[in-house]
Amino acid sequence: MFITLEGVDGAGKSSHLDWLEDWFKARGREVRMTREPGGTPIGEQLRELVLHQAMHPETEALIMFAARREHVEQVIRPALDAGAVVISDRFTDASFAYQCGGRGLPEARLAVLEAWVHADLQPDLTLLFDLPPEIAAQRLANARAPDRFEREQVDFHARVRAAYLRRATQFPRRIQVIDGSREIADVRRQLADILEQVA
Ligand code: TYD
Repeated sequence: MFITLEGVDGAGKSSHLDWLEDWFKARGREVRMTREPGGTPIGEQLRELVLHQAMHPETEALIMFAARREHVEQVIRPALDAGAVVISDRFTDASFAYQCGGRGLPEARLAVLEAWVHADLQPDLTLLFDLPPEIAAQRLANARAPDRFEREQVDFHARVRAAYLRRATQFPRRIQVIDGSREIADVRRQLADILEQVA
C-alpha cells in the first residue's frame, strides 16, 4: 500500500508521521517512511536546491519531478514490491498544489510530467491535512528558519490550499481531507477510522 501525506505548510502532517508508522508496525506491517522532495541521495540534494535557491517556476517543477523519478525507482517501487507499506511525506499532489495552484503553471504541463515519471503508480490513499493559511502562517511563525515556500505570502498558500481541495473533489475516493485545526487526539481518531477502512 502506498500512502501519501499532503497539505499546506503548517497544517500539521509532520506531527502524525511517527504515529502512522507505529499504527502499521503494531499490525505487523513492514513500513517504509520517506519524503519529497528527497528520499534518495540525489533527491535530497535536489531538495536543498529547490527549497533554498531562487529559480523559474518551470525549473522548480522539473526539479520536483526529477527528484520524484529517482524516488519512485529507487525507493517507492522496490519497497512496494517487497510488500511494505510506503508512507511518503508529500508526492505529486504537492506539485499540482504548489507549482500549479501556487505558482500558476498550467496543469496540462504537469500532467505530462506525471505520465512520464509515474504513469502506472498512484497512491492508494492520500491524507490531506487542511488548514486556513492564516492559521498555518501563525503556526509557522514560531518554527525554524523558513524555506522558499514557507516564506511565501498568505495568498500563495491560499491558492495552494484551494488547489489541494480541488484535487480532493476530483479524486474523492483516494484523497481524505483531515481538518488540521482539531486537537491532535481528535485528528488521530479520524486517521484511525480511515486506516481501519483501507488497511
Ligand atoms: P515540507 O514537506 O513542508 O517539509 P518540512 O516540513 O521539512 O518543511 O517541505 C517541502 C516543501 O516543498 C513544501 O513547502 C512544499 C514544497 N513542494 C512543492 O512545492 N512541490 C512538490 O512537488 C513537493 C513534493 C513539495
